[in-house]
Amino acid sequence: MRRSADDLAKMRRAGRVVAEMHAAIRQALRPGVTTAELDRIGRGVIERRGARSNFLGYGYPPFTGVICASPNDVIVHGVPGPVRLEEGDIISIDCGAIVEGWHGDAAFTAGIGAIDPEAARLIEVTEASLAAGIRAMQPSGRLSDIGAAVQRVAEEAGFSVVREYSGHGIGLAMHEDPDIPNWGVPGKGRRLGPGQTYAVEPMVCAGRPETQLLDDQWTVVTRDGSLAAHVEHTIAVTEHGPEILTSA
Ligand code: MF3
Ligand code: CO
Repeated sequence: MRRSADDLAKMRRAGRVVAEMHAAIRQALRPGVTTAELDRIGRGVIERRGARSNFLGYGYPPFTGVICASPNDVIVHGVPGPVRLEEGDIISIDCGAIVEGWHGDAAFTAGIGAIDPEAARLIEVTEASLAAGIRAMQPSGRLSDIGAAVQRVAEEAGFSVVREYSGHGIGLAMHEDPDIPNWGVPGKGRRLGPGQTYAVEPMVCAGRPETQLLDDQWTVVTRDGSLAAHVEHTIAVTEHGPEILTSA
């Protein structure tokens, strides 16, 4: 789908709400805070901005938060609840919002207080892998250039990328075609072009990349118990290159 300038303006507005959720939740990250409290902060931003949640009620069983909160070995889709964050934890926070029917979706990973140097390196490398994926989003490039760039940065640092979950097209729905894997060889798949909008979301593990779905049917953890980080932006391909829609 090629988005018009008007469509992109609305997606920018949705993206700004998501960025505001990130900023508010980042501020609240400290030892002792529960992930349910972080979810409540996200709800407050959505309400104040007159937006709607794309996460709440999604899927089956219906997701119960407006954010995903995924600490330590949780890769993605952690359900907000009574768990209290502790000094040394890392946490991935995934937020989404809908404005006038258009979707934004973005995630960050942060440490709680002082964290292990290896955990800090995992977060930095995951951010760098997303930046590399975004840089690959040039008009006339190919879809698989994105995942190839992500994988290269993550694996060169000695980490691994999850195979079972991917980025995705986004626009009038949160998840649209195509899938955007965080791995693969460059030069394959559809040609990238102006007006296309994608959510790119590397999930990087300190150890092995195999995943396990917990009994709640949402929480995805690393099978080996190693730490995982997850970062995401919603991005438009423009004639000049990528534009991040989920930044303040
Ligand atoms: N934001 C996630 C993604 O990047 C989806 C969240 S699942 C939900 O695709 F249930 F929380 F919505
Ligand atoms: Co997403």
